[in-house]
Amino acid sequence: MAYEHILAEKKGRVGLITLNRPKALNALCTPLIDELGAALDVFEADSEIGCIVLTGSEKAFAAGADIKEMSERDFIDVYSNDFITDDWEKVAKCRKPVIAAVAGYALGGGCEMAMMCDFIIAADNAKFGQPEITIGTIPGAGGTQRLTRAVGKAKAMEMCLTGRIMDAEEAERSGLVTRIVPLDNLLENALETADKIAKLSQPVVMMAKESVNKAFETTLAEGVMFERRAFHTTFALEDRKEGMSAFAEKRQPNFQNK
Ligand code: HXC
Repeated sequence: MAYEHILAEKKGRVGLITLNRPKALNALCTPLIDELGAALDVFEADSEIGCIVLTGSEKAFAAGADIKEMSERDFIDVYSNDFITDDWEKVAKCRKPVIAAVAGYALGGGCEMAMMCDFIIAADNAKFGQPEITIGTIPGAGGTQRLTRAVGKAKAMEMCLTGRIMDAEEAERSGLVTRIVPLDNLLENALETADKIAKLSQPVVMMAKESVNKAFETTLAEGVMFERRAFHTTFALEDRKEGMSAFAEKRQPNFQNK
């Protein structure tokens, strides 16, 4: 499918989505968000795709929501239309794993979008921040919540109150990103990681993702019980039998996603 503001392609079992609005540093305008949602729907529905990578350019993952588009909006407009609704949350709601491969700026809505992914791999030039306060507003796509859960109150509060930008080193130290890789290797590294996930049993991968996400939504006891039931459920799958048999027989498993 041809898009105007993104590129979407299949790389074997991996769906690669590239934010592609270079003149605006991938600012997340409404048509871009619509296209991103459409591309995610296509990959979600495609049984050949087991993992998705979301990336931007070398200079910017995304420099935020489109400030020029937002500048003319007023309260009744954003309130009535519930600006930042399901379309933005589509990344977070995706059932297949989504890896953010972030180079350059991930600011405002760009940082929020990266945090909606399951994990972030950062290039050494990545910069993260929630600078909304400097333009008279606050994060609106989960930044105050997801950044706080990722890096703790002190850093999240400072970043949201001052707009301070975190470099890749600090982001890794703080737990915002899983690792830093050289800029030139970013995409290759993210695609390799995604391919590893895509070769596993898709239903089991989804259960693992749901279980980790449960940790952010519930008490420890309920989360542990949720995990245990999901673990039990894997025993209903042929893939669980195949995985354990393959280990015992010293061969690679051949998962059938059932
Ligand atoms: C619209 C943007 C943009 C944005 C950059 N551009 N960020 N347009 N919305 N968020 C445009 C610039 O206007 C410019 O267009 C072009 O991209 C290149 O940007 P420059 O500023 O010239 O580049 P540079 O000097 O390298 O500075 C990079 C930058 C800066 C530090 C990232 O662009 C910047 O501060 N951007 C805004 C960051 C921000 O405040 N983000 C939060 C947005 S609010 P022209 O046409 O002039 O060449 C937000 C709210 C989220 O995200 C709430 C829920 C969604």
